[in-house]
Amino acid sequence: MKRVGILTSGGDCQGLNAAIRGVAKGLYEQFGKDVEIYGIKDGYTGLIFGEYKKMEPGDFSGILTLGGTLLGTSRQPFKTIRVIDENNVDKVAAMKKHYKKMDLDCLVILGGNGTQKTANLLREEGLNVIHLPKTIDNDIWGTDITFGFHSAVEIATNVIDCIHTTATSHGRIFIVEVMGHKVGWLTLSAGIAGGADVILLPEIPYDINKVAKTLQGRIDSGKKFSILAVAEGAISKEEAKLSKKELKKARADFRHPSIVYRIAEELSDKIDNEIRVCVPGHFQRGGSPCAYDRVLCTRLGATAAKCIKDKVFGVMIGMVNGKTVPVPLQDVAGKLKAVPVDCDEIKAARQIGISFGD
Ligand code: F6P
Repeated sequence: MKRVGILTSGGDCQGLNAAIRGVAKGLYEQFGKDVEIYGIKDGYTGLIFGEYKKMEPGDFSGILTLGGTLLGTSRQPFKTIRVIDENNVDKVAAMKKHYKKMDLDCLVILGGNGTQKTANLLREEGLNVIHLPKTIDNDIWGTDITFGFHSAVEIATNVIDCIHTTATSHGRIFIVEVMGHKVGWLTLSAGIAGGADVILLPEIPYDINKVAKTLQGRIDSGKKFSILAVAEGAISKEEAKLSKKELKKARADFRHPSIVYRIAEELSDKIDNEIRVCVPGHFQRGGSPCAYDRVLCTRLGATAAKCIKDKVFGVMIGMVNGKTVPVPLQDVAGKLKAVPVDCDEIKAARQIGISFGD
């Protein structure tokens, strides 16, 4: 009998249930009745506190299109994972204990960068783990794409589309803040797909005067409305000169709720036009996975099941050059995949006159 645990950890996104389903159906196909699947509740927290239950094949039916995660999720920051907590819980020892108690052959872990680091730590501790790359941010090293990303691009694009019509009617400047944490993948795709006039990414620090010049140029040519797609992690040229620590402090002292409000205030001193901000926030992580993500999750899940059959552990299932393949966790854990500033999308955007504020 094979025993496989599954957990989802970190911020949720579209496609988690589709990926869980892919793993489970793949396992039942390979092992028939000779496999038991344990669903671990709320990510690593459930593994630490022993909250899990045996799942039945029926639990994985009808969930392909379902948003969120049926297992629940939580954040257990990697940087404190080895810290004994106030109740004297040794989190790593507790996770190992429950893995052993469930008598698992493998633990399948769905999550983003932080989750991946803990998965790698569990690998170092001798557990058989397989990681599936989930995040709307698309910032996981070693895979061309993460699941959740395309669904979030659809939503963020739809936001920009809707903002376009109202911005045009009123002749206003709109600044749309797009998620993505420290990278600009989501903003870049949604900005291009939504026809933004200015796209600001963490990878390309902006000069507010250049942004204002672009907007003024549009006004002067008779276009009163403009759309700015701004990554939540966007930084100015001045901020780019700060150390990581200084930037963190500067942002902690921020009197604006987020970057777009500061940009709006700075632009309002330079441009004589109405400016509004729009922050779609967690909307971007909600709802059903798009068709692309459903296919991706099914492929990643099926490949994970195959790896379990072949006893290939300690890996992330990545999408590399169009193929789902196992990638060693030690090669990718802790690395961030940022947008290359000379990538084709950025070049094409510049070629059609989109400004990156630099
Ligand atoms: O990593 C996914 C993400 O949605 C980021 O884009 C965003 O910065 C962050 O999570 C928000 O985290 P939380 O859900 O904890 O507010």
